[in-house]
Formats: sequence, C-alpha cells, structure tokens
Amino acid sequence: MKKTIITHSKEETQKLGHLIARHLNRGDVVLLTGDLGAGKTTLTSGVGEGLGVNEKVLSPTFNILKCYFHGRIPFYHIDAYRLEGQNIELGLDEVIEGDGACFIEWPQFIEPLIPDEHLEISIRNLGENERELTFTSEDGFDWVLQLDKEAE
Ligand SMILES: Nc1ncnc2c1ncn2[C@@H]1O[C@H](COP(=O)(O)OP(=O)(O)O)[C@@H](O)[C@H]1O
Ligand SMILES: [Mg+2]
Repeated sequence: MKKTIITHSKEETQKLGHLIARHLNRGDVVLLTGDLGAGKTTLTSGVGEGLGVNEKVLSPTFNILKCYFHGRIPFYHIDAYRLEGQNIELGLDEVIEGDGACFIEWPQFIEPLIPDEHLEISIRNLGENERELTFTSEDGFDWVLQLDKEAE
C-alpha cells in the first residue's frame, strides 16, 4: 500500500492526524520519517487529539518516550533522535510491542526494535506551509487509501 497526501497548513496536518486516530488499533506501530521541521510532531499531536488524550502532545525530544493513557487506546510517542549511536536497551521494545498505538520519530536510530509490520509516514517539506506525506505499508493499514476522501 502506498498513498500520498499533500497538506497546506499545520492545521490541515493536525486534522489528518484526527482522521488517522479513528483507525488506529492497539499494537499499531507508525514510523515518522523526514527532516527536522517536516511536521512529524505536528501530525502526532493531531493523532493525540483525535484519540482524545487530554494532554497536549509535545515534542518528546528531551524525553525520548511519552505515554498517554487517557484516550481511546494507550498512545506512545517515541522520539529516538537523541538515541543515535546509543545503547538502545531501554525497554522501548516493550512499549513498541505493547497494548497501544506507538508513533516513532527518527526510527532509523532504533532500527533493531522496529517490527516488520508497521506503517511508515514520510513527510517532505514542499515549501513554507506545504508538506507531502507519503504512507507506505507492506501489510495492512489499507484504511489509509480512504483518508483523503474522509477529509472532504
Ligand atoms: N502543512 C504543514 N504541516 C505540518 N507542519 C507545518 C505545515 N506547514 C508549516 N508547518 C510548520 O512546520 C513545523 C513542523 O514542526 P514539527 O512538527 O515539530 O516537525 P518535526 O517533528 O518533523 O521536526 C511547525 O513549525 C509547523 O508550524
Ligand atoms: Mg519532532
């Protein structure tokens, strides 16, 4: 499955996050790739809102992991940026294989912990407010194909 969606504002990306949240199940692993400032955290905060976590989802760059337990399903947000070249035996595997949906920024730095079954969302900066989000998955996540129709 491969799908590309373009957004034209931060708010539009957050709204896409709300739509994604509706489809998430426990155990889903979503990888977010793209440069600094692409919009990975922005999309994740929209997902958190959509799941109904009653806390603002902020960049966990200094925390590596944030857990939100008050939404429809548990929501885990990992930012592995600061784990580059580090020993990654932190118990993150238990979170990733856990009972919630897990969104991971900079997954390349914890590659051994990434399960084969995942959705990758790669975000590219096309200009000041334009972002291209490319969704790729080898198995499952076919609901992504309908996302742009749901947005209308
Ligand atoms: N269409 C868009 N989608 C998401 N963010 C956007 C968009 N247009 C502009 N932005 C801005 O880009 C930045 C994205 O930052 P952030 O989500 O923290 O990126 P990352 O987590 O990938 O480093 C924010 O300042 C946001 O306001
Ligand atoms: Mg970020």
